[in-house]
Amino acid sequence: MEQEGFGPGKRRRRCCFIVSVLAVLLLIVILALALGLSMREETNELEPIFLSRCKQLKEYDCQQAWELFQQAYVNRDPCNVSMEAYDPFITATAIRPQCNRMMFWSKTKYVVHEFTEKKNCFQTLEDTVLGSVLDGLTWCGKEGSFETFSSGCPAWMDCANNPVRSFWNRASAAFADVACGNVTAMLNGSIATPFDSSSIFASIEVKNFKSSKVKNLDIVLITQKNFVTNCTNQSLQTLKTQLPEGIIYNCKEVPETQIKQCSGDSEKACGACW
Ligand SMILES: *[C@@H]1O[C@H](CO)[C@@H](O)[C@H](O)[C@H]1NC(C)=O
Ligand SMILES: *[C@@H]1O[C@H](CO)[C@@H](O)[C@H](O)[C@H]1NC(C)=O
Ligand SMILES: *[C@@H]1O[C@H](CO)[C@@H](O)[C@H](O)[C@H]1NC(C)=O
Ligand SMILES: *[C@@H]1O[C@H](CO)[C@@H](O)[C@H](O)[C@H]1NC(C)=O
Ligand SMILES: *[C@@H]1O[C@H](CO)[C@@H](O)[C@H](O)[C@H]1NC(C)=O
Repeated sequence: MEQEGFGPGKRRRRCCFIVSVLAVLLLIVILALALGLSMREETNELEPIFLSRCKQLKEYDCQQAWELFQQAYVNRDPCNVSMEAYDPFITATAIRPQCNRMMFWSKTKYVVHEFTEKKNCFQTLEDTVLGSVLDGLTWCGKEGSFETFSSGCPAWMDCANNPVRSFWNRASAAFADVACGNVTAMLNGSIATPFDSSSIFASIEVKNFKSSKVKNLDIVLITQKNFVTNCTNQSLQTLKTQLPEGIIYNCKEVPETQIKQCSGDSEKACGACW
């Protein structure tokens, strides 16, 4: 009796063993698949965002624009991507300037964009087709790979020639280069040096304004309560002297509350906010 019972028991145990091995194998396969998928998502995140944003705008051949864009940084050290690497992409996606409506900014990003979004009368770089496709995104390449990565990339301050920073530098130069008519810039009156020589506005944009096209540069110095800087500040006198000859400089202190009030007021005309 005991021996008869032994047989099926042993078979059951062997069966159990095989089932557990299969279960473990299955688990390994599932984990590997999940890992593979998540890695593919990580590396391929940018292209679909780029293409869908681009296609919505219906401005240019998006597939071609993507090819030119990624040529700037794929298969390169992510700390050695120059501004010039984006030249073919910038040329293909030429900015169409809106004279008298172009808005520059430095250290006022949040207030400026709240303003340009609500009041559609000024255009920042981030509102252009070129800027809006890439605003808020991160990307980089890697030596020996032709893929685009959207994580594990150097941060803005990690190295000067990182792909994102070089792109915004290049795009800013292009935006300033086509600026025309009366140009406006919102600077921050709550900091000691509103015209900071290390900012993109000071180091790239102001230097790329063309006196043949730009008539006036109107500085809107946004102030908060007990503000520290006004239009007499030395850094703004420096700005005046750094402007290409022939461009007329103006500066006005405008409270942040006034800007916010005005952006909600649909009756007020463009430029009548200060
Ligand atoms: C950066 O890239 C250029 C080519 O684009 C190369 O000539 C140069 O040696 C690289 N510099 C470094 C530090 O890797
Ligand atoms: C100006 O800078 C200060 C300090 O960084 C910040 O709190 C404030 O929001 C900025 N003002 C604007 C209009 O962005
Ligand atoms: C440009 O600014 C000047 C001086 O502030 C002004 O007289 C002129 O009307 C402005 N032009 C446009 C198109 O806004
Ligand atoms: C501007 O600021 C300076 C000090 O930074 C002060 O002496 C001057 O009175 C201020 N001017 C105005 C018009 O507020
Ligand atoms: C004015 O500008 C100079 C540099 O150009 C800076 O050192 C100074 O702190 C600024 N701010 C004030 C409030 O004086």
